[in-house]
Amino acid sequence: MTDIVVEVRGTTAWVKLDRESVRNALSLAVNLRLSDLAHELEADEAIRAIVITGAGDKAFCAGADLKERRGIPASDSAPYINAIAGAINGWGEIRKPTIAAMNGSAFGGGLELAMACDFRILVEGAEVGLTEVRLGIMPGAGGTQRLPRLVGEARAKEMILLGRKVTAARALEIGLVNQVVPRAQLAVAVDAMLAELAGCAPISIIQAKAAIENGYGKPLSDGLDLERQLYDLTLFSEDRDEGLAAFAEGRPPRYLGR
Ligand code: COA
Repeated sequence: MTDIVVEVRGTTAWVKLDRESVRNALSLAVNLRLSDLAHELEADEAIRAIVITGAGDKAFCAGADLKERRGIPASDSAPYINAIAGAINGWGEIRKPTIAAMNGSAFGGGLELAMACDFRILVEGAEVGLTEVRLGIMPGAGGTQRLPRLVGEARAKEMILLGRKVTAARALEIGLVNQVVPRAQLAVAVDAMLAELAGCAPISIIQAKAAIENGYGKPLSDGLDLERQLYDLTLFSEDRDEGLAAFAEGRPPRYLGR
């Protein structure tokens, strides 16, 4: 499959949407492959972090492939809609840390994909938006649910109901992205975050991510119970002993993910 390039560097998988001529739009084939990849990378024990990016310098991802959709009657479009939602929600179910290295603008499904990642680093000058209402549809791959969780209901309504695009600076201001960097610094910023992740215990990251994602929105007491259960999965890991030993010996820990 040439529309997605996967490269493993050390313990990180770099996934690149490689359809620059259509601004990395998500075709049916790309969505099906993204779904499979989410499962494959989750299962691969050698992979500890996943980065997704796009080809070129215009767009991270321009969303659903609108030219492909144009030819499909509404009554036949369920497989296409299910595939994009399946891909993006599948990406959101990856337990390992995920980073969207946003090399350009992201609209519709492109922003939904970035929001399904744990971290978003966006290049200066890019814009992002969930502009579906301008096309007579609405976000259908998690946008109405993930955007308010990230930026709050009022700001999410501004973006979704008005179909507003926001600048990179505004996206940073409202907490939609973690960092905005000059284009030339994108790889450096991603590598710096990967290095930070590499200094943390893999099981700890996975369980802390699960605690945040599965506890958020629940009554506090339920969330605290969940946190306690997940804490125990770190407590009885080898890496917990390694962390304490490294601290006592004043050396960097060597985490094995066990
Ligand atoms: N699906 C299919 N093709 C797309 C596409 C999409 N979502 N987005 C862009 N393309 C195609 C264009 O039709 C154009 O094709 P052409 O060369 O055959 O004319 C090519 O990609 C380049 O697009 P262009 O608009 O000229 O590029 P740009 O760099 O000036 O702008 C974007 C990039 C992403 C800002 C712009 O393409 C855009 O706004 N795309 C639509 C985004 C959108 O509305 N997505 C759906 C949200 S619900």
